[in-house]
Amino acid sequence: MNQPREHWGSNMGFILAATGSAIGLGNLWKFPFITWQNNGGAFVLLYLMCIAAVGLPIMMAELLIGRKTQKSAVGALKEAIGPLWGWVGAWGVMAGFIILSYYSVVAGWSLFYFVKTVGWSVGGFPAGLQTGDLFAEIVGNGGLQSLLSALFMAATVGIVYFGIHGGIERVARIFLPVLFAILLLLLVSALSMDGAGAALTFIFRPNFSELEPGSVLEALGHSFFTLSLGMGAMITYGSYVARGRSIVSAAGTIVLLDTLIALFATIIMFSVIFSVPGMDEQVNKSAAGMLFISLPQLFYEVVPFGAILGPLFYVLVALAALTSTISLLEVVVSYFIDEHKMARPKATLLSGGSIFVFTILSALSFGSVPGLSNFEIFEGKPGVFATLDHFASNWALPLGGLLITLGAGWFMTRQATETELVDETTPRWFNYGAWRFFMRFVAPVAVAAILVAVIFFGVDFS
Ligand code: TRP
Repeated sequence: MNQPREHWGSNMGFILAATGSAIGLGNLWKFPFITWQNNGGAFVLLYLMCIAAVGLPIMMAELLIGRKTQKSAVGALKEAIGPLWGWVGAWGVMAGFIILSYYSVVAGWSLFYFVKTVGWSVGGFPAGLQTGDLFAEIVGNGGLQSLLSALFMAATVGIVYFGIHGGIERVARIFLPVLFAILLLLLVSALSMDGAGAALTFIFRPNFSELEPGSVLEALGHSFFTLSLGMGAMITYGSYVARGRSIVSAAGTIVLLDTLIALFATIIMFSVIFSVPGMDEQVNKSAAGMLFISLPQLFYEVVPFGAILGPLFYVLVALAALTSTISLLEVVVSYFIDEHKMARPKATLLSGGSIFVFTILSALSFGSVPGLSNFEIFEGKPGVFATLDHFASNWALPLGGLLITLGAGWFMTRQATETELVDETTPRWFNYGAWRFFMRFVAPVAVAAILVAVIFFGVDFS
């Protein structure tokens, strides 16, 4: 059963879908928090350098491998680089499987908070409510957790089922503009708050004496996660790009938008937090804390138009997560379609269903089932959820990224990559020689440094 390969309906549709994959919980949930943990300014600058020096060239490499071969991760890496690289693709498919399984649990929380905040906007924020207790109650409620993530997974499956053009691209075209609009509204509101000045200083004034050694690695590891690199997602999206369109400008746009959104989200959150005296002391010491414990209450106490912006904020989180979960699922689904000649509907239901089994294990690992919540494979990361997240960001993505980088830089010929990247559509700012230098030297050394740090020094940057 060899159907012709599907393609994106337009270049804009492709860029929006890939940007949607990149923008997700990484931007809204993880980045502001790690910026906080690493004392702002200098860390942000480092992160920007990692994005430009490592993220951007690898984004181009993944897209070019996909477009060149017109195959998803496993087949593409085999054909473009060599038979052994099929295993790198398989590693990526596994990473997609794992990330999607726990990612949809957090995505499910955004649905809950949307419903809650709508209720508070209508009925008023309950006096004396402890948002920390509320959060603990939800994550400890196994039934509710499973229901929320099931809803999210069903939405993801429902979109991927309809394919590239009819499903993923259509949704991205509608959701991404909505997402940008909500974010801009929130940004304007946040910038009008008292804490905005302090927030901007915190984020943009580098103070290198506050930087800790682990921060470099954390910045690098996060650049992979936030750009959906290192696991073949961008290879897969690139494989639906028709020839004759520049992947260089596409990569530039995706990386730029992802970075802007991460910075906007950070400005918004810190403007709110710095507007409340003493709040910075209290911010809960976890990413979940910022998004689901501190913010819900602050919307009603300090944010101008918070009763409207609060629910909208959780719509934003849900939309950002959904455009990422569909691309995670697509990596797995396209593997079954391309390598096992399965029809899309069957591949989608099969992948979605089996991933959901692991989602349930994650969903129940916040205390509701002790056996799933307490075991520790990685020190300080108890339970299924934390274990999977740690494994994916600290091992799976950096290792996959390193192998893809080495493959594209050292095992593909200059001619093979140059003909993909340089043609009449290539923008003027692009320099092929520089790209090749970054791929062969800068990116592999930087990524190898992460892995060495994890292995020998146990640095944790999840
Ligand atoms: N980039 C997504 C985010 O920032 C997370 C992610 C990592 C991802 N790898 C991916 C999404 C692969 C889609 C495909 O939230």
